[in-house]
Amino acid sequence: NNVSLKIPATSANLGLGFDTMGLAVNKYLYIKATESDKWEFEFLDEELRDLPNGVANFVASTAICIAKTYNKVMPDLFIEMSSEIPLTHGLGSSSSAIVAGIELANHYCQLGLSMYDKILLASKIEGHPDNVGPCITGGAFVGYYRDGYLAYHQLNLDKISLILSIPPYEISTKVAREAIPDTYEKGVAIEQNALNNVMLLSMVNKDYKTMGELMMQDKFHEPYRQPLIAEFPEIKEIAVKNGAYATVISGAGPTVLTLCPEDKVEGILKELQQVSTCKHESVEVHYN
Ligand code: HSE
Repeated sequence: NNVSLKIPATSANLGLGFDTMGLAVNKYLYIKATESDKWEFEFLDEELRDLPNGVANFVASTAICIAKTYNKVMPDLFIEMSSEIPLTHGLGSSSSAIVAGIELANHYCQLGLSMYDKILLASKIEGHPDNVGPCITGGAFVGYYRDGYLAYHQLNLDKISLILSIPPYEISTKVAREAIPDTYEKGVAIEQNALNNVMLLSMVNKDYKTMGELMMQDKFHEPYRQPLIAEFPEIKEIAVKNGAYATVISGAGPTVLTLCPEDKVEGILKELQQVSTCKHESVEVHYN
């Protein structure tokens, strides 16, 4: 009883949509599972080799916990794992592990989970749905999760290309969240709300130019996280000058996400090589 999973990376926030919006990206976590007499992982990539093995691994502990929630016993698995998603870089590597655990529990314990169930369970573990949501639905995702309540929508984007600029250093989500203030002044909250509303409808109506202009005016997290990512202002300036719709911090950073028209990717990518500390790569939105 083998199962293979291919789980996408995600880029959360999209500038204005802190903790609520995200995109699935075509970089993947690959899992090949076989029933075994004990939990064991074989990490096929160098970068994964420091991850805990056995039941201490996040994929295993998530699967066991989900099975328990449904009063089932998760079988022990031997798992071959490889990943194109850099760890602790703002591309949803921990969400991909959560979703892998849920999919494994769903398969081996025959839970019959719906997409809604999976996003709900995953949001409960992650605390917010902006990575786990698009990881499960593909495409662009907007979701609200609180105290066991979930509402979400998925959206397809037409003809948008993505560029990731990946710095060599990591930023822990905890540190990036601590950089954000506990409260906002009323005027700031009102403005953010207005920007977000118009940005979302621009995205739905495929007015990507307006969407991009608004995305880059976030008041909630980017101004406070920007100092953690030295390359961010330069990447944004180059990308926007060369025709990008928007350049924003991907998740908690340090990866920077640029959205652009398909015909601008090559030009922007070429110019971005000036920022030599980062690895720049063109990727696409992942759809299920
Ligand atoms: N919305 C989250 C954040 C994503 O920006 O902190 C990373 O977990």
